[in-house]
Amino acid sequence: MRGLKDKVAVIAGGATGIGAATAVRLAEEGVAVVIGDINLEGAVAVAGRITKTGGQAAAVRFDVSDDSSVRELIAAAVQAYGGIDFIHVNAADLSLCLTDTDAVDVALDLFDRTIAVNLRGHLLCTRHAIPELLKRGGGAIVYTSSGAAYVGEPERVSYAVSKSGINALMRHVASRWGKDGIRSNAIAPGLVLTDGSRASMDAEAQERMLALGRSTRLGTPDDIASMVALLFSDDGEWVNGQVISVDGGITMRG
Ligand SMILES: NC(=O)c1ccc[n+]([C@@H]2O[C@H](COP(=O)([O-])OP(=O)(O)OC[C@H]3O[C@@H](n4cnc5c(N)ncnc54)[C@H](O)[C@@H]3O)[C@@H](O)[C@H]2O)c1
Repeated sequence: MRGLKDKVAVIAGGATGIGAATAVRLAEEGVAVVIGDINLEGAVAVAGRITKTGGQAAAVRFDVSDDSSVRELIAAAVQAYGGIDFIHVNAADLSLCLTDTDAVDVALDLFDRTIAVNLRGHLLCTRHAIPELLKRGGGAIVYTSSGAAYVGEPERVSYAVSKSGINALMRHVASRWGKDGIRSNAIAPGLVLTDGSRASMDAEAQERMLALGRSTRLGTPDDIASMVALLFSDDGEWVNGQVISVDGGITMRG
């Protein structure tokens, strides 16, 4: 894709699943990637995979819910590669979804923690990345949202609220900094088969999800990584302020 080679990207939440696939895909396109995650071992493994095949990658432990930790992640990327052009804000604590019920029953500390990681953490990444993007004359941000933000599920209230907030944050950034050359978009994946989602859904549940969509298969992390690469690239340079569903047609929005 055009305009990716020799750029620098931070993947906030890149040790496993969608973030790991995105790091690998961007590195294949010639991007130097800084993989931040609370799971340092996983981030180091992804960086090792990339450098073994000639790509540029560094791994940094960070906690997206901690302001100074996010600041340090961005500073580490600038130190390693001289600046940043892109950030994929992807981290979420999906273990919280297991006990995320409804508005009456949900434990308030679970709600608060979900917001702290999945939404406030995205704000922290945004506020520390933007000054660095501006120093390079602009750049692009891609947030990982979810179809849960707009389908209206009867459970996972905290998760859905956090993802709706990401969509609002994304649009705010596009409006506030679009004229400064920063593009901001969100991807809403459908069911993507990662190690985590495979572990929490048996084959029957996966079949049910497949039946809901209009495609021949469920999603893979690479499906989302391709869209991130497109949105960062010059091929996506007129896409701004959008929530893009990559879900095999499970949802259809006008
Ligand atoms: N897999 C799906 O079906 C699916 C569907 C819709 C949306 N999503 C979204 O995609 C994104 C990636 O999810 P995934 O399925 O690849 O799961 P994943 O668990 O593999 O990825 C999430 C990453 O975030 C990291 N993380 C968690 N808490 C953190 C913290 N406090 N600080 C830093 N890093 C932290 C995890 O260690 C992990 O590497 C998430 O935002 C998720 O909500 C996934």
